[in-house]
Formats: sequence, structure tokens, C-alpha cells
Amino acid sequence: MQSLHLSSLPAFEQPFLTISTILISVFSLLLLLLLFFFVLQQWCHQVDKRRLPPGSMGWPYIGETLKLYTEHPNTFFFTRRKRYGDIFKSHILGCPCVMISSPEAAKNVLVNQAHLFKPTYPPSKEKMIGPQAIFFHQGDYHLKLKKLIQSSFAPSVVKGSVSAIEEIVLNFLPTWENHALICTLQEMKKYAFEVAMISAFGNNLEPEMEGIKHLYQILEKGYNSMPMNFPGTLFNKAMKARKQLNEALRRLIEKRRGNRKSHNDGGLLGFLMSAQEQKLNNLSDSQISDNIIGVIFAAHDTTATVLTWLLKNLIDNPHVLQSVTTEQEGIQRKLVEENRGLTWDDTRQMNLTSRVIQETLRIASILSFTFREAVEDVEFEGYIIPKGWKVLPLFRTIHHSADFFPQPEKFDPSRFEVTPRPHTYMPFGNGLHSCPGSELAKLEMLIFLHHFTTTYRWKVIGDEDGIEYGPFLVPKGGLPIEVRRRKCKP
Ligand code: HEM
Repeated sequence: MQSLHLSSLPAFEQPFLTISTILISVFSLLLLLLLFFFVLQQWCHQVDKRRLPPGSMGWPYIGETLKLYTEHPNTFFFTRRKRYGDIFKSHILGCPCVMISSPEAAKNVLVNQAHLFKPTYPPSKEKMIGPQAIFFHQGDYHLKLKKLIQSSFAPSVVKGSVSAIEEIVLNFLPTWENHALICTLQEMKKYAFEVAMISAFGNNLEPEMEGIKHLYQILEKGYNSMPMNFPGTLFNKAMKARKQLNEALRRLIEKRRGNRKSHNDGGLLGFLMSAQEQKLNNLSDSQISDNIIGVIFAAHDTTATVLTWLLKNLIDNPHVLQSVTTEQEGIQRKLVEENRGLTWDDTRQMNLTSRVIQETLRIASILSFTFREAVEDVEFEGYIIPKGWKVLPLFRTIHHSADFFPQPEKFDPSRFEVTPRPHTYMPFGNGLHSCPGSELAKLEMLIFLHHFTTTYRWKVIGDEDGIEYGPFLVPKGGLPIEVRRRKCKP
């Protein structure tokens, strides 16, 4: 364009234009250079400001996901921590992320700066559980729900479930006898599910509960499937079951409302409905349903997995099993003398068994980490965590750090005779989203161990040691065992 324009001018004007063109060109060049240095400076400043933590982002798109799910998690996290320090970046499940393995930094994410890091889940999980469930929220709605759920699972309420949970155990354990092989995880899932049902709906379950249980089981099968919504897929069946569950729960809520019976013994549903009636909150019926499903979901596989690890740890550590049995036999003698079942106060006397549970929660760290997402660019311990990046406080790495738990790979319940340093022990999370069901989970483990250790002995079938995901880390094969009644009882 420029050359065309020049050649069309009169001849006498051309020398002048040539000089002016040179001047303009030099001037433009200078301007460009200035612009270049300005942009370069800005860029350098920007890079400095946006200093990301060290680490590797792995392969394009898949990042380090394959490594995370094929290596032992201790190896995956520890090699990176050793190489890069307590805060490092990675790329898993299609997302850039920052992994955090110091108690102080984890506390900053979960407690001090929790408003900058929102909980985050894949959209398919949100659809299945229900988008109004507590896990997915922050702010006022979350606080309102948390207060209600927490009060429904407070020790003063949970203690009223001891007899109902004991009844479940007593009906359930004899079904383990006379089987050549028991898959511990599958059986513990059944037990934890029954307990979750009474904690969600109350100790006296209505007849329609069978239908609700059936639908929940279809939902659960699809939960860890690929989120492909085509006819016939597990995901598709789960989504249909979820819709039907909504309807079933809506009918149950209407029925309970119609009966006008006291909600006192109605589990979490009773709590949420009476708060609704007393206008203590303005929860809708569908918000209540999502949270009922959410709590059953949160209470179920988690507790079942820890129970599975408990049996594994006791079988691997016979002297600990002996001590637990002795403690439980002492309590059992008292029950026989007084001709009664277990009470809450009895469970408070199970000190050694409680430490075994604490140590199992530490060493198994079934939730190796949790997910948060930076809601804005966050300056964090000298680094920048860009908006939208996932942030993963690594509970497992902290629980397995020799700095806080000497000889961390040793199963040693006595370490809990001393309270761990603050924020180093987080099996139930920390901060606003910490677990409201911890007392219930521990109670159901204590009641189970009381009857199991005093009545049965078990041995592992097969010699396969190792771990797998089911969906949390579990002993290989879900811990196949053979169970038999003890010959001599006190
Ligand atoms: C041993 C069993 C359990 C373990 C290890 C466990 C662990 C956890 C952890 C680590 C969190 C925090 C997650 C996060 O910060 O992102 C959590 C949250 C939660 N847990 Fe549990 N849990 C267990 C059993 C239960 C039970 C029995 C219930 C039933 C009441 C329950 C209900 C919940 C709920 C509703 C939340 C979400 C709280 C919120 O977002 O504010 N959990 N759990």
C-alpha cells in the first residue's frame, strides 16, 4: 500500500518525502523499541507477580493423573514434596492444581482464608447428590445448613442411637458366620448404610424405606461410573434413580407432615422438618431432600472403608487385637452382670479401642486430600495461585510426616495418649467444611468392635497384600476374610 501511494506523487516532492520517510521510520522504530521494552518490563513484572509454585504439570491434558492413580499415594506425594517443598503445582483430572502439605498452609486454605477457596466437585457428582447439598456451598446457605446438620449429629443426639446401632450389629454379625469368604468392604458398606439410614430417617424406619434404599443403591452404583448419560449406562440409571428418589422423598416428607407426629425421633429429616415448621430456616423440600441424600452418601463408604482398615490393622497387629479384646471383655462382663445392652457411657470407657480408631484414621487417611478452588488470584506463602486453580490440602502427607508422627508407618495407637499438635491431625477435615458426622462414625466403629472382638476371630484369605481404590483406598480385594465364632468367651 505504501509504495503504491509514493509512486503516485509529483517528482519534485520525492527527495523531501524520502528524508521525511526516513525520519518517520526511525521515529517509528524508536517508538516500537520503547513499546517493546515497556511490554518486556510489564511481562517480567507480571511473571514475577504471578510466581507459581514449583512442580511439574506432567503431560498435556492428562497431566499427572495416571501417576496419581497408579503409584502408591504416599510415593506420589512424598517424591514431589521432597523435590519441590511443602507447596507444589501439578495437573490432575484435567485441572491445574496446587498441592499443600504443611499443616499451617492447609489451615490457611481450610480455615483462615477459607473464603478465598471454595469447595469444588465435578458437575456430574453435583447432579447425582443434588446441587443443594451442603458440600457444594459457601456463605449463609452453607452456615445455616451446617448448624442444622451439626446439631442433628451432636453427641447429645447421637447417644440416643446406641441401642439402635447395637441392634443393627447384633442382627448383622451372625450373617457372617458359615461363609467360606466374606468381603469385608462389601459387608461394612451394608452395615454403614443401615446406620446411615437410621441417622437420616430416625430409629423407626417407615415401610417406604425399602423403596428408598433400593433407589439409593442404584444411584450409588452410578456414582463412580463414567458420566455418560446414554440409555443403559450406569450413570443414566443412576440419574433416573435420583429423580425417583426425589419423588419418593417428597412423598415421605408430605406424609410425615400430614401425620403431624413429633419429629424428635425422625433423624436428620426430622430435624430439618421441625426447623422448617418452626420457621428457623426457609429450607425448601427439595433442599431437604438433597441434604438427606448428601448425608447418606457422606456417611456410607467413608465409615465402611475405615472399618475395613480397622480389621486389617487388628489382624496385622495381634498384640493390639489382644489389648482391644481385653478392654471390650471388661465392658462385656459389666453388661452381663447388669443384664443390659451397651450405653453411650460404656463407649466413653473404650479408651484403648478409641486410640486404635484414631490411629487407623491417621494411617489409612482414606481421604488423602480434599479439593478447593481459588475464587480469585490468591497470593499464598510467596506464590500466586491463579483464579480457578484447584487447591489440595494433603491430609495423607501431613498424617504420614515424621515431623508430627514419629515412625509414621508404624501402627502405634499409643501415640494418641498425647494429643497431636494442632492442625496436624485432620481425618475429618478442618474449618468450615469439617465433618459433622465424626462422632457418629466413631460410635458405630466402637459398637461394631465391641461385639466383633468379643464374639469372633477372623483371618485374611489369600496372601495378596496391597491397596486399591474402592472408591477410597482399601486393602486389596476389599479384604477377603473368614470369620468364626470364638471358642472361649469370658
Ligand atoms: C470415618 C468416616 C468419615 C470420614 C473419614 C469423614 C471425613 C470427612 C472429611 C475429611 C470431610 C471434609 C471434606 C472437605 O473439607 O472437603 C467431611 C465432610 C462431611 N462429612 Fe464426613 N466423614 C466420615 C463420616 C461421616 C458421617 C458418618 C457423616 C454423617 C453425618 C458425614 C457427613 C459429612 C458431611 C455432611 C460433610 C460436609 C460438611 C460441609 O461441607 O460442611 N461424614 N467428612
